[in-house]
Amino acid sequence: MGARIAGIGAAIPPRLLTNQDLEKLVDTSDEWITTRTGIKERHLLVDGMDCSDLVAEASRKAIENAGLQPEDIDVLIVGTATPDTVFPSTACWAQPKVGLRPIPSFDISAACSGFLYGYQLADALIVAGRAKHVLVVGAEALSRVMNWEDRNTCVLFGDGAGAAVISPPRDENDGLLAQTWGADGSVAKLLWQPAGGTRNPASEATVAENMHTVHMAGNEVFKHAVKAMKRAVGEVLEQSGCTSDDIDLFVPHQANKRIIKATADRAGVSMDKTLITLHKYGNVSAASIPISLADAAEEGRLKPGDLVLSASFGAGFTWGAALYRW
Ligand code: ACO
Repeated sequence: MGARIAGIGAAIPPRLLTNQDLEKLVDTSDEWITTRTGIKERHLLVDGMDCSDLVAEASRKAIENAGLQPEDIDVLIVGTATPDTVFPSTACWAQPKVGLRPIPSFDISAACSGFLYGYQLADALIVAGRAKHVLVVGAEALSRVMNWEDRNTCVLFGDGAGAAVISPPRDENDGLLAQTWGADGSVAKLLWQPAGGTRNPASEATVAENMHTVHMAGNEVFKHAVKAMKRAVGEVLEQSGCTSDDIDLFVPHQANKRIIKATADRAGVSMDKTLITLHKYGNVSAASIPISLADAAEEGRLKPGDLVLSASFGAGFTWGAALYRW
């Protein structure tokens, strides 16, 4: 018995960037991006909009969807790799925008695994009786850390946020049934933003060398992602005693359709039970699972009692998986 997702909401920024638009920016093609990743388009922030604005919009929708008021929320956790500022946290910037009480508000840095890490923390707080309703948000402004001349990375990512209100279970067979999470920092440099922290503070040289943008050894990341996500889904299935037949919907992190297919195969879940949203949003890192859940809920693909499997992999490397009842 664990905490459940009681409300869900998403914020998709207004600027649409299609693969055809990218063909005009870098040496790429819609055909390459589609076959290698499955991505067709992504949405980007416009000037004057911050990551915390996305957090606020998604949060308001999730709170309303849960039938609650902002004052009912006890803790705000934001998973992001692209915070408004190094400090204060994006959660603190967003807190007054959502109209929350002066509750504990903080970010977690687990890249694409930020939402699942947040869900597991929220579950621990709720089960321990330290909180009743925890708002967990995955939010990214990845367009702000993109090298728009690097075709290896700029075609992959998008901006957006997804928020979930995590609340106590309705009964003993509800909410989070099994979970796993992990990290391996020994290969951190396969996917990172080299400057902007305290190791390489901003300077003319860091800007000239594009060190404030995403650097990724895509092929290596791909292999690690497949391995870690397969292992993670195996662990939660084993922990729960559930089989692939029990799963109603697989909602994985949306980085690459080929990684999703390999993970779904390991879980024994068919592609019709696997939610794909990356064609619309690209890789939105920590936001991709909650945005996908919001999409699924809106499209009527999730009904109370459904068994949902999620898995993620991201910079760190970090990974996680969760099996939960909707
Ligand atoms: N358009 C056209 N050609 C391209 C592009 C592009 N946008 N990007 C790369 N290429 C070329 C390469 O230069 C290379 O050409 P070469 O053979 O002449 O050298 C060729 O395509 C193949 O490149 P690979 O990197 O081997 O392609 P791959 O099949 O591995 O696909 C991709 C690349 C899509 C990046 C894939 O490796 C991937 O999805 N990796 C994982 C990404 C991921 O999961 N990230 C984790 C989470 S993100 C986070 O935490 C924030």
